[in-house]
Parts: sequence; structure tokens; C-alpha cells
Amino acid sequence: MIHYKTPAEIELMRDSALLVSKTLTEVAKVLQPGMTTLQLDKLIADFIRDNGAIPSFLNYRGYPFASCTSVNDVVVHGFPNGQALREGDIVSIDIGVIKKGYHGDHAYTFAIGDPGPEIMQLIRVTKESLYKGIEKAVAGGRVGDISYAIQEHTEKKYGYGVVRELVGHGLGRHLHEDPQVPNYGRRGTGGKLKEGLVLAIEPMINLGRREVYTESDGWTVRTFDHRPSVHFEHDVAIRKNKADILSDYSIIEAAEKANPYLVTGESVLSQ
Ligand code: MF3
Ligand code: CO
Repeated sequence: MIHYKTPAEIELMRDSALLVSKTLTEVAKVLQPGMTTLQLDKLIADFIRDNGAIPSFLNYRGYPFASCTSVNDVVVHGFPNGQALREGDIVSIDIGVIKKGYHGDHAYTFAIGDPGPEIMQLIRVTKESLYKGIEKAVAGGRVGDISYAIQEHTEKKYGYGVVRELVGHGLGRHLHEDPQVPNYGRRGTGGKLKEGLVLAIEPMINLGRREVYTESDGWTVRTFDHRPSVHFEHDVAIRKNKADILSDYSIIEAAEKANPYLVTGESVLSQ
């Protein structure tokens, strides 16, 4: 069942999404080689609680942490652990909160030190594909328009692997609501996009083959060929003439640029 939100509910959801953006900004400020994802997870849980919200991933279907920290060949749902991050690692940080009854759920992939041009391109193109999908997230369109835009930009144009097993989703009082939003599909197919629908759009794109497997912990999703994977996620409300992006990358990107340990797509392109 699809839940359409009123303008007042969308403002509450913007607040939840922005709290995730602010939490990701705190991560962007402190990320550096030698740090562990478990340290990040503690910072994330504390920051969310200090801001009067609940970390929504914790205990969701038994998930044991406040964040998903997915390093290199981990696609999504990586457990925070005590292993030090190293120069050349890429890490997707995915965070969820519940505030005033509404969920925020979004993610960003950081490069710690320079992982090299091939992986930096994967990061840039995956982020671009998220915005290509968001462009299609307007009333009157179809879910398949979003899916197609993401697949075209990543698989067709660059030959990357588009993960099939995991998809984006509706967002609201629940973390996962209808409809599903695959990162592959055909234009003009799937459910109609109507005003008030809020979606978490989240391309998961592999440098190599699209196949993935889940580890015996029941959560960690890895690429089958162990080549790296990138994940970006925004929360988006469907409006009449434009997509309304509720989460905010600008504050994360500013902190990313200011952190000398992080390599950004831009700095590589301008070299
Ligand atoms: N962004 C992920 C998703 O939408 C986060 C879920 S992780 C979980 O599926 F721990 F909450 F399951
Ligand atoms: Co999500």
C-alpha cells in the first residue's frame, strides 16, 4: 500500500532527512585513515540521540548497529567493525533516523585517500545517476522512468554492474514502504508517481559484474567478483513540476572538501 504525505508531513520528513545529512556531515568532518567504522557508528548513534531522534536501523529486523558501513567490495549493510580504515578505501555510510514519527534514510560514499581514477569515476557516475533518477521523480511520471535513467547512465554508458537484488523504496512512518524503486527498468512502466509520494532512491553500482551475495551474518552484501561497489541515497518528495530533495548533500560535500584525508570527485577531475 502506498502512503501519500501531506505538505505538513513532508516538512517533518525534510527535518528527518536533514538530520541524516547533518549526521553524515559529522562523519565527513572526522573520517581519516586509522579510524574504525565502529568508532563512526558510536559517533553516529550519539549525534542522532543528541538531536532528539532515534537511530532507526538499530534493531530493525535484528540489525545490530545504528549505521551500515560498507567498505570496498561490500555493497550495502556492512556491519561497523574494529578494523582501521586505510588510505585508498571507499566507504558507504548509510544512516536512518526516526524523528516525530517519520523516517529519514540516506547514504553517501566517501573515498579515504585516493583509490585511483577507475574507482573515483565509479563514485562520480553513481552520484550522477542518482540525480538522473531524481530528475524523473515528478508527478505524472512512472517509477520505471527513475529506474531507466539510473540504469542508462551506469550500465549502458559505462558498463557498470547494476545490483538487482536490492532496490530503493517508499519512506514515511515506516523505513520501507511501497513502492519498490529498482535501479534498472523500462521507461513508462511501474507505478504512477503522484504528489505526496516520498521515495528513498539509492543506486548500488558495481565496478565489475552485477552479481552479489550475502554473507553468513545474514546482512553483509558483497560483490561476487570482489570488485568495489558504490552507494548513494537521497530522500525525495514527488511534487507537481519538480523533485523535492529532502536530504542535503551540500553540507556533506563542504565538509568532505575541507577534510584533507578525503578525495572528492571534483578534486580528481581538476587535477
Ligand atoms: N538504506 C538501507 C535500506 O533502505 C538501510 C537499511 S539497513 C537496515 O535498505 F539495517 F535498516 F536494515
Ligand atoms: Co534506503
